[in-house]
Amino acid sequence: MADLKLNRNTFGDEKNKGNLLNREVAFSLLDEWVKNDRLKLHMLQVGGLMKAWAISTEQADETLTWKWEMSGLLHDADWDQWPDQHCKKIIEYLESLNIDPEVIQAIASHGHIHFGVEPKTKMDKMLYAFDELSGLIHAYSLMRPTGYDGMDRKGVLKRLKEKTFAAGVSREDIHDACARAEITLEDLIDFIIQHQPSIGLI
Ligand SMILES: [Fe+2]
Repeated sequence: MADLKLNRNTFGDEKNKGNLLNREVAFSLLDEWVKNDRLKLHMLQVGGLMKAWAISTEQADETLTWKWEMSGLLHDADWDQWPDQHCKKIIEYLESLNIDPEVIQAIASHGHIHFGVEPKTKMDKMLYAFDELSGLIHAYSLMRPTGYDGMDRKGVLKRLKEKTFAAGVSREDIHDACARAEITLEDLIDFIIQHQPSIGLI
């Protein structure tokens, strides 16, 4: 795998604070850049979880909620077509559009092991936390005959302990992310089970 380190620690420009893409533009960027439906669903799921968290836990208003959702929605935008430039490409693109630096920082820090950028804000930390666990829980839903129906925390914890299940998902990252976000793994699992089933369905 290519070296994805970003080798910098500041993103965007403070004077662009509050500049977000409008919803239509963000969703067409997703359609244009991401051809892989599984990846697209993952991005919708992480965006939807960020939105749900902002509303339920951060008491966010509409603009702040969209900021959280947009960060989740676009975090892997360049992964499909430019895996060797993962993170760099979307970050530079959003910088060229003068997007809010906090959105760019959140995307840049969603995998500190790969990109070398530490998650700082609660938004950064929740994006990092949702990213891997959301995918593992979705994979689990696909192997259950009833999908998300009747899924419980115990089942997810069991899958987490099975190293061969969704082997690409780093258990270490999940624990690290929970510690950074100051949320228990159990609460994070419950939140995803509660909110993820309805995300990305038409
Ligand atoms: Fe992701």
